This record gives sequence, C-alpha cells and structure tokens, in this order.
Amino acid sequence: MTPTEFARRRRQLMRIMGKGSIAILPTAPQCTRSNDVHYRYRPDSDFYYLTGFPEPEAVAVLIPGREQGEYILFCREKDPKKERWDGSLAGIEGAKARYGADDAFPIADLDDILPRMLEQCDKVFYSMGSDAELDQRMSQWVSRIRAKARSGVHPPQEFIALDHHLHDMRLYKSRSEAALMRRAAKISAAAHRELMKTCRPGMNELELEGRFIDACYKRGTREQAYPPIVGGGDNATVLHYIHNNQPLADGDLVLVDAGCELECYASDITRTFPVNGRFSAPQRQLYQLVLDAQLAAIAQVKPGNAYDAPHKAAVRVLTRGLVKLGLLKGKPARLIKEEKYKKFFMHGTGHWLGLDVHDVGDYKIDGHWRELEPGMVLTIEPGLYIPKGTRGVAKKWQGIGIRIEDDVLVTRDGHEVLSKDAPKTIEEIESLMRA
Ligand code: GLY
Ligand code: MN
Ligand code: MN
Repeated sequence: MTPTEFARRRRQLMRIMGKGSIAILPTAPQCTRSNDVHYRYRPDSDFYYLTGFPEPEAVAVLIPGREQGEYILFCREKDPKKERWDGSLAGIEGAKARYGADDAFPIADLDDILPRMLEQCDKVFYSMGSDAELDQRMSQWVSRIRAKARSGVHPPQEFIALDHHLHDMRLYKSRSEAALMRRAAKISAAAHRELMKTCRPGMNELELEGRFIDACYKRGTREQAYPPIVGGGDNATVLHYIHNNQPLADGDLVLVDAGCELECYASDITRTFPVNGRFSAPQRQLYQLVLDAQLAAIAQVKPGNAYDAPHKAAVRVLTRGLVKLGLLKGKPARLIKEEKYKKFFMHGTGHWLGLDVHDVGDYKIDGHWRELEPGMVLTIEPGLYIPKGTRGVAKKWQGIGIRIEDDVLVTRDGHEVLSKDAPKTIEEIESLMRA
C-alpha cells in the first residue's frame, strides 16, 4: 500500500469529520506471550488503515484544518541503545518523512500535548471501549479541561463513535486494496494446492498445517490471518477445530481452513479433499452438494442483491439436496422455514473480509440486510457437518465435515472470485492429487 493511499483515507475521514473536530486512534498494545516474550506485533486494523504505521506505542490524531498540520503521530523516540537490541525505530523524524505525519511527538508527551489539542475542538471522534487505559486518560483530560472553565476554555461538546465511520470506509475496498487481497488469496490458493499434492494417509494434521504455513512463507508472507484449521475425518465436523494433531486416515476427508495475511490484509479459504486422493461414493455425494450450494451462493454476489441472498441460495440448494439424499425428510420449503438444515449446516454463509478476517462493516441498515456494492469483499462458505454418532443418520454419512470457502469481490457487473486458483471441483482435486 502506498503512502498516497493512506493519505487519501485520512483526507476522506477528515472530510466526514469536518472543521472543529479531532479524531484520536491508538494502535494495539504489544501482547505478552509469557514472562518477557511477546507475540509478534500486529498493529490495530483501524489505526493501520489510516497510518500504515507498524510500530506499537503510537497514537494517531487527525485535526481537519489545523494550521500546523492535520495529521499528528505520537510514537516512540529513536533510542540507539534500544535499537541495537530490537532493530530500528521510525522515531519522530521517520514518522514525518516515511509515514507522512505533518507533525510528530514522543508518545511520552501525550498527556501534555493532547489535552491542549482537545480544548481547541468541539467534536471528538473516538472509539470508546476498545482501549481501557486510553479511555481513562481521555476522561482525565476532559476533566482537566473542565476544571479550567473559568479561564475561558471549553471541553469538547460532542463525542462521536469513530469506528462507525471508519468501518464503513473499510467496507469498500479501493483498487489497490482489492489488488492486495487478490495477491493474498493467490498465495493461500497456491498453498492449498500444495497440500492437495502432498497429502498422504498416515500424515499428521500438524504436518499439513506446517506445509501450509511453509508454502506461504516461501511466497513471502509470514502471517496467517487466523489459526489454520486442519481436521481429518470426524475432526472436520468441529467448526473451530485447531488442535490439528491427529493422524490422517486412509478413506477420510480432510478439511483445511487456512489463509495468509499479506500486509495486514486477510485471505480466508477452505478446501476439503480426500486424504488418499479419491472421494468415496458418500463423500462424493455430499461434497458435490456443498459445491452446488457454494456455486449457487456465489452466483448471487452482485451489486444490488441483499447481503443474505447468497445464504438463502445456499440453504435452498443444501436443503433440497439433503432431502434427496434422505438426510432430511419433508418438503424443502417447510424444512427451510423451520430451519431443519441447521442440524447439518449451522453457520452463516460468510462474512466481510479485509484487514480483519471477520471484517468490520454493518451487515444490516435500519434492520434490513444491506445491498452488495462494488468494492465489498465477502467470503462464501457453506458446509455440511455430520459427526459420528449423529442420531437418525445412516452410518455412511457419519464422520464427514465439508466446507468450501472462497473470497469474493463484488465488481460493477457481478463478482470476482479472488481465491479461484484453489481447485474445488471433484475432477480438479482428484486429478491434482493423482499427479
Ligand atoms: N476461518 C474463519 C472463517 O472461516 O470464518
Ligand atoms: Mn470465513
Ligand atoms: Mn475460513
């Protein structure tokens, strides 16, 4: 992502905010894994969206119309001794030169400087409730300003939820965001292909997980957008299975839900394939049903359609198919109304995708499903899950979990499947695994 794009986003937000206002956004804290070891650092998505600034201990401030500069970044100062151990910091100069801040200050001076900025503004855009420490400091700053009332200064009059505006901006991906998400999806799709090519009975789920991550590393990304799910056989029926530590049995399917993160943008792909390379007859029937449902859902992704149109399409196909296979009994319309399909398909058909895997943005507006518009990216991921021991279900269907998940960009005239390089038809999968 270029500095120009971050600047464009800040300008867009400041246009929405208007004069006399201030936006304050902290980045995420550095999290401890154990004792003095930290998790690898990942900036807060909202903060990153507006700044591209990758270091912890930073607060971005936007003040539209401020003469000395509208974009102020508080960050860590350069510290040669510390940098000798932990690597280089942007510092105050870097914040301006490399990250486009008009003005930058040491984060240690936040308590001195920010209240003076606050007292110049009527409206404060701030996401209350995400950073408890900053919430508390914010209320102290406001009380300090209030205490100076007799000297003629006023505390801000209005507090406005910043996330609401920002999350609506994040929902519409620009051309360069779409390009980045296409690249992320391509890397993950290639990694899924590698797993199909190398999977053998007796291998452990853990090894497949490792190979997925390795395939992403090889293609230049270090992060996963979420912990990979690699579930063989019955494990695939546990929706958020992440133990990934069991041997993969000949004759079972394996479900792999994994996607890399590229420059903080997520991909989220699920493929399900036979451990030994050949679908059995019951696996084939269920798999084809999920695939038909997924294709029907993807066909509904186009501007003007409601967000839930894909889900409705998937439910229709799945319910009819389950009746045909004898897994549900009754009239499809009634079974849909009574949500009987939920016995086998108990989650939604997707979610927004972007900087976060379950990305931000409202799904409903005034109680109605929102219309799909160009630039939105969503996943389409129907599935069927039939754990061993499910009552009233023939043995041949048990121990099968199938999900097929793609990342789909809404375009002007329909959609683009960003993750299309990951094979998903039975023929494609079997022929790739044979080779
Ligand atoms: N991998 C998480 C999801 O599919 O929503
Ligand atoms: Mn998903
Ligand atoms: Mn997923």
